[in-house]
Amino acid sequence: MIEIQEVTKKFKDKKVSITALKHVSFSIEKGQTVGLLGENGAGKTTLLRTIATLLSPTEGYITVDGMDTVKNPDAIKKKIGVLFGGETGLYDRLTARENLDFFATLYGMSKHETKVRIDDLAKMFGMRDYLDRKVGGFSKGMRQKVAISRTLIHNPDIILFDEPTTGLDITSSNVFRELIHQLKREGKTMLFSSHIMEEVSMLCDSVAMMHKGELVYHGNLEELYQSEKSNDLNYIFMSKLVRGETDYAS
Ligand SMILES: Nc1ncnc2c1ncn2[C@@H]1O[C@H](COP(=O)(O)OP(=O)(O)O)[C@@H](O)[C@H]1O
Ligand SMILES: [Mg+2]
Repeated sequence: MIEIQEVTKKFKDKKVSITALKHVSFSIEKGQTVGLLGENGAGKTTLLRTIATLLSPTEGYITVDGMDTVKNPDAIKKKIGVLFGGETGLYDRLTARENLDFFATLYGMSKHETKVRIDDLAKMFGMRDYLDRKVGGFSKGMRQKVAISRTLIHNPDIILFDEPTTGLDITSSNVFRELIHQLKREGKTMLFSSHIMEEVSMLCDSVAMMHKGELVYHGNLEELYQSEKSNDLNYIFMSKLVRGETDYAS
C-alpha cells in the first residue's frame, strides 16, 4: 500500500521557486491499478519520482507498505520497479540477457535466481529468440520488452510507469497493455501516468487527476462514470479542470 500525505514539492530553479506538487494526498491499495492523469507540467513525473524515493517531499510524506520514502529508501527500492518514459536505460553494446544480468546484480540477486527470472521474463514477453543478441540492433518494440523486463527483474510488488506508451507504435503499446493485464492477474500494485484516456479507462481501477500540482480527483473509475453520468474520461477530465479553474477564481 502507498500512502501519500499532504505532499508538497518545491524546486528552486535560478532562484525562482516552482511548486510542482501542492498538498497532494491519496492512497493506493495493494493490487490496484491507478492511472495518473494530467497535462504537461501537472506534476506527474515529480510525484512518481517522489514515490520511487528519487526525490524527497518539501512537506508531507509518503509511505510504502508503512515505510517512509525518506527514511527507508533502500528497502522501498527493493519493492518497487520503475520505468520512466523515453529512457530505456539499456546498454546497446550488451545483449538483452547481459543487460538484465547487470540490473539483477544491482538488486543483489544471486546467479541462479537471476537465470530463473530472466527465463521467466523471456517466456512471458516472447524474447527467447533474441535474448542473446545485442540490444543495439533491436526494434522499438523489442527494446520496450527488455526495458519492462528490467523494471520487473527483482519481481517487485509495486510498479511505477511514467508515460509508458508515449512515442510507442501501436504494436508496442499493445504489448504494454497486455502486460498490465498480466501483472494485474499477478496481484501487482501499479501506478502509471498517461495522456491517453482510452488506455487509462481500459486498464485502471481508479484514477488520480492532477492539475498544476494539485490533485483534482482521486477515486474509482466506475463511481466517477456514475457520478459524472458519462463514460467519456476525456470529457470528464476536461470538465473537472474547467470546474477547478472556476473554483480557484472564485
Ligand atoms: N528538477 C526540476 N527543477 C525545476 N523544476 C522542475 C524540475 N522537475 C520538474 N519541474 C517543474 O515542476 C513542474 C511539474 O513537472 P513534472 O512533474 O515533470 O510534470 P509532468 O510530468 O506532469 O509533465 C513543472 O513546472 C516543471 O517544470
Ligand atoms: Mg512527466
